[in-house]
Amino acid sequence: MIVQVERRVPFPMPERAFNEAARACLRLQGINAPCLINLVLTDDLDIREANRTWRGIDRTTDVLSFPSLSLAPNRLFDPSAPGAQAAWDCDAGAFFLGDILLNIPQALRQAAQFSHTIHREIIYLFVHGVFHLLGYDHHAKEDQQRMRNQEKQALEAVNPAPVSDEQLLALARAAREFAHTPYSNYKVGAALLAHDGTVYTGCNIENASFGLTNCAERTAVFKAVSEGNTAFEAIAIAADRTAPWPCGACRQVLSEFAPRLRVLISWGEGQTDSSTLDRLLPHSFLSFQEDLHG
Ligand code: THU
Repeated sequence: MIVQVERRVPFPMPERAFNEAARACLRLQGINAPCLINLVLTDDLDIREANRTWRGIDRTTDVLSFPSLSLAPNRLFDPSAPGAQAAWDCDAGAFFLGDILLNIPQALRQAAQFSHTIHREIIYLFVHGVFHLLGYDHHAKEDQQRMRNQEKQALEAVNPAPVSDEQLLALARAAREFAHTPYSNYKVGAALLAHDGTVYTGCNIENASFGLTNCAERTAVFKAVSEGNTAFEAIAIAADRTAPWPCGACRQVLSEFAPRLRVLISWGEGQTDSSTLDRLLPHSFLSFQEDLHG
């Protein structure tokens, strides 16, 4: 394991996403030695306290890094250098690079501000933190350039090309083909986009015992959750005759994981519309999930 994640706020970003990003950063530095990073997913108050305690700055921020070795500015971490032994953690059998505190609510605000996915923003902040642990800094202009360049390369290595709304709708239309609808002959396809860029498709699957029918949206969400992916960005739903706004049951199931999910629909001869789940299901039942979704 490279990244050990402590969740002070229960944000559902899988550990593997951080590990993959950390590996990309180390690879760029040519580091093959085993390394360990302690990542804390936290909130405004907590990071503000750390900022005040350790840096004398009494305000919130997006990410803070605490390298385990106090490297001179821009002296990059080199596991083969004699000084590196101080970072060796016998229990972990790895070089402990340090701690990163990442402010999840701030990352959500920044993602909205920059109009990119939450996943992308969180991974960007994490990668920025990792390069600080490795000795990069951005005080001088050329140092900043050097660090940005590394960050860009690491992000390119881990972030898939973003899926557009048109692509998601096309995937939903394609998923309709597999619908099993001998009773209604109303074929529905869905394509659910996860924060990490993975798309899960689904179709409606009817049954001779009518009540056992599963809607396209629930097929897609159950596929995703059963594979360990629970953080979603948008769902596209396609049908032919009428506008396929999701049924009440599907709204409730989707809101369990993503109460503010974007919902895109397509029907007829290329007609489309969009909304968000909080508009389609106001005052939804989330009694156990309040903390998770703020
Ligand atoms: N259906 C869906 O797949 N999604 C919805 O949100 C509403 C309804 C399907 C279920 C059934 O196979 C057919 O449409 C007619 O109700």
